[in-house]
Amino acid sequence: MKLDLDPTHASAPEPLRIEEMRLEDINAVTRIELLSFTTQWPHDAFANELRSNKLAHYFVGRIGSRIVAYGGIWVILEDSHVTTIAVDPELRGCRYGERMMSHLLDTAIELGAAWMTLEVRESNLSAQRLYQKYGFTTVTTRKAYYSDNNESALVMWAGNLQGELYRARLDALRAKLS
Ligand SMILES: CC(C)(COP(=O)(O)OP(=O)(O)OC[C@H]1O[C@@H](n2cnc3c(N)ncnc32)[C@H](O)[C@@H]1OP(=O)(O)O)[C@@H](O)C(=O)NCCC(=O)NCCS
Repeated sequence: MKLDLDPTHASAPEPLRIEEMRLEDINAVTRIELLSFTTQWPHDAFANELRSNKLAHYFVGRIGSRIVAYGGIWVILEDSHVTTIAVDPELRGCRYGERMMSHLLDTAIELGAAWMTLEVRESNLSAQRLYQKYGFTTVTTRKAYYSDNNESALVMWAGNLQGELYRARLDALRAKLS
């Protein structure tokens, strides 16, 4: 088989530019939200987070001017929590979710967080794999946490984020990403 040298068929994904989410980004974010979750945060929920929650840090990932990913965390002293993360379904599997996750972790660590928690649906194996890659383990299960189908949530946790071992793990993963 001949090697395809046509640059329009280049397979390397374009780099994701991660920026703080702004109010004017919310329409694009809620479009991805609708395609990604069975129960969604409405526009107002994102707007309230951006306007009023001093503990919240939300980001969008762009390819060119198009928003293709977003994510958010709360950071309360040493504690941080992933509130949301999603990638446009058309562009999943291109490491954009991982880049966003890595950015959320970097931000939390920079702000002094020592651990991070999150909830994930029991059936959401792709997200669980992503979190496990970044050192998260399941610490407990919340039965019937999701009201749409009574699905349980796994509570996942990554600790000692400020430690050398965790930083080395992040550095190694970041090197692979770039
Ligand atoms: C979870 C999500 C953000 C992952 O984003 P993505 O850009 O598709 O994933 P990436 O290409 O960055 O993959 C990174 C890692 O995630 C895991 N992963 C992603 N897609 C996967 C799949 N289809 N099957 C298994 N693992 C998968 C893998 O560990 C992968 O790394 P690896 O290939 O080296 O093992 C994305 O699937 C999504 O938006 N899902 C819907 C919203 C959602 O469920 N959010 C999480 C709520 S808790």
